[in-house]
Amino acid sequence: MAKVIIFGVMDTAELAHFYLTHDSEHDVAAFTVSREYMTGTEFQGLPLVAFEEVETLFSPQEYKFFAPMTGRNMNRNRERIYLEAKAKGYEFISYISSKATLFGNQIGENCFILEDNTIQPFTTIGNNVVLWSGNHIGHHGQIKDHVFFTSHVVMSGHCVIEPYCFFGVNSTIRDFLHIGTGTLVGMASAIYKDTDEWGLYLGNPAKKLPKPSYEAY
Ligand SMILES: CC(C)(COP(=O)(O)OP(=O)(O)OC[C@H]1O[C@@H](n2cnc3c(N)ncnc32)[C@H](O)[C@@H]1OP(=O)(O)O)[C@@H](O)C(=O)NCCC(=O)NCCS
Repeated sequence: MAKVIIFGVMDTAELAHFYLTHDSEHDVAAFTVSREYMTGTEFQGLPLVAFEEVETLFSPQEYKFFAPMTGRNMNRNRERIYLEAKAKGYEFISYISSKATLFGNQIGENCFILEDNTIQPFTTIGNNVVLWSGNHIGHHGQIKDHVFFTSHVVMSGHCVIEPYCFFGVNSTIRDFLHIGTGTLVGMASAIYKDTDEWGLYLGNPAKKLPKPSYEAY
């Protein structure tokens, strides 16, 4: 059981508070957000403090940290807070829903794994990975750091997902593929071949598109 500081004051932070309170052994002690986004001194009835000084109020020796943020900026906003909180000396929790199905998989820190995810045997998950609800994560695969799966994505067996990838709802990845760093897969798109780094892929079969749209994420 840990006393946990959650980063954020938006939907994802509210959901993290809900999930940790109702479906984990952890206690949420406070929220923190960058000073410019402070909305007051309380959130969800708990203290809200500036991230810039959180370590002076909630010591990293006594509290753990959780930054379950969205995939904006291809997961790099979440990565930045994760690294900054780490540099302040915090250890992280991961949340894994009791309604997810796992088989002793290795899971990193600051992961947010919601209900109805199936993670098959021999697949590993890195640090700072979000699996929103209901994904199929196939066997003998590897999901590296700072990756975001939205919902109802099928990752077939033996796939390697490099850092910073984002998978839109209902996307599909064929087995034995290598998904390059920072790949953005649009909703309902089907990936049949390895992808290039920082590529945007849309459609079925997915086609690589020029970059501008990718700035949306
Ligand atoms: C790929 C994506 C990021 C593009 O967003 P965008 O830059 O705002 O692009 P637009 O919505 O303006 O669409 C641009 C064009 O691509 C097409 N397009 C967008 N997404 C597409 C998709 N997944 N498959 C096929 N075509 C798509 C649009 O129809 C549009 O075509 P047009 O120019 O002929 O009208 C977005 O469509 C997407 O799939 N996001 C993921 C959404 C998601 O999973 N959300 C989960 C909640 S976090």
